[in-house]
Amino acid sequence: MKNPTTTTSSPLFLRAAWGEDTPRAPLWLMRQAGRYLPEYRAIKARASFWEMVRTPELAAEITLQPLRRFPLDAAILFSDIMTPLPAMGVPIEFNPGPVVAEPLRTQAQLEALRLPEPQEIAPYVAEAIRLVRRELAGKPVALIGFAGAPLTLATYLVQGSGAKDYEEFRAFLRLAPHLAHQLLQKLTELTIRYLRMQIEAGAEAVQLFDSWAGLHDPDTYRTFGLPYNQKVLSALAGLGVPRIYLAVGASHLYPLLALLPCEAVSVDWRLSLAQVRPFFPAHTLQGNLDPAVLLAPLEVITQEAHKVLRAGLGGPHIFNLGHGVIRTTPPEHVAHLVEVVHQFNRHSEEPA
Ligand code: CP3
Repeated sequence: MKNPTTTTSSPLFLRAAWGEDTPRAPLWLMRQAGRYLPEYRAIKARASFWEMVRTPELAAEITLQPLRRFPLDAAILFSDIMTPLPAMGVPIEFNPGPVVAEPLRTQAQLEALRLPEPQEIAPYVAEAIRLVRRELAGKPVALIGFAGAPLTLATYLVQGSGAKDYEEFRAFLRLAPHLAHQLLQKLTELTIRYLRMQIEAGAEAVQLFDSWAGLHDPDTYRTFGLPYNQKVLSALAGLGVPRIYLAVGASHLYPLLALLPCEAVSVDWRLSLAQVRPFFPAHTLQGNLDPAVLLAPLEVITQEAHKVLRAGLGGPHIFNLGHGVIRTTPPEHVAHLVEVVHQFNRHSEEPA
């Protein structure tokens, strides 16, 4: 899964994503744009979440906010995993997490879901991507597009909102497996169209967020997660962009995740990268500082970041958090983390 087109002048993030053991770990942070930044809150004070997502100039501006503060190696488009769902006919609200007024439980509701054409899904996302690429032209910063994985989108559609262990969704998979497969099939097709559209508009890498995959036992994931993720990811092969897959709390699924056709796997903080590496000999690892570390004093951040950097040696590594930036994170702590990662020379260090 190497890309012969990256050279030493390509953005470091893309080189590592394609499997190069780079001299410095490129870094970006999940939720690097968001409520911990006062400039994000300033926009949020006068626009609803959907307005921010659906106004290309605002989405582009928010995407670029963290890049103006920190020398990060990648931007991630400001949007949400729920963005493509209204085009299927499902209204979504945010409070602050996604809320589906009528959770999907019946065959009739499933049949009412329409499969939009690629250009109908979220044209404002394509425009935001073009605006961001224009701003980043000539800079060594890659733009990451993203989508929710079918299983994680289905989790919200069926459960209706965020929940602790998503019991109703887990029950639904057993009560109505046939319906679940039909739903996952539709979401798979939607996700393929949506990600191809983002790539055409200029996304240089894609991340598939399967945030709730870790809820399931391996057999359930093998049945309802893996085949659909394989379909989405393999539909993006050959388009010239590296594919990143993320799951959280999913260490028990690593032997299955290693089967995914993607270049990189984003892992949470529960195991060290040195422990995770043997599961993924053919993949780049992305991660995996505990986001809570960014709430600690600077010396603790230095120490913990070094631990992650050392554990990431011996293979390609993209530095990131194990999950998104926490809302109460001081921006100066992020600045410090970025500096620590920049100063760490991977080629002159011994593995932990
Ligand atoms: O900087 C980035 O990472 C890009 C922007 C981004 C958002 N959501 C913005 C957002 C991305 C990549 C997402 C993906 C997303 N959305 C995921 C997958 C990543 C993950 O965290 O596992 C999930 C599960 C969602 C669903 C979602 N959307 C939740 C649970 C919430 C609310 C709680 C929270 O974590 O903030 C949202 C709303 C949302 N999406 C906000 C942002 C900045 C907060 C909106 C606000 O300002 O109140």
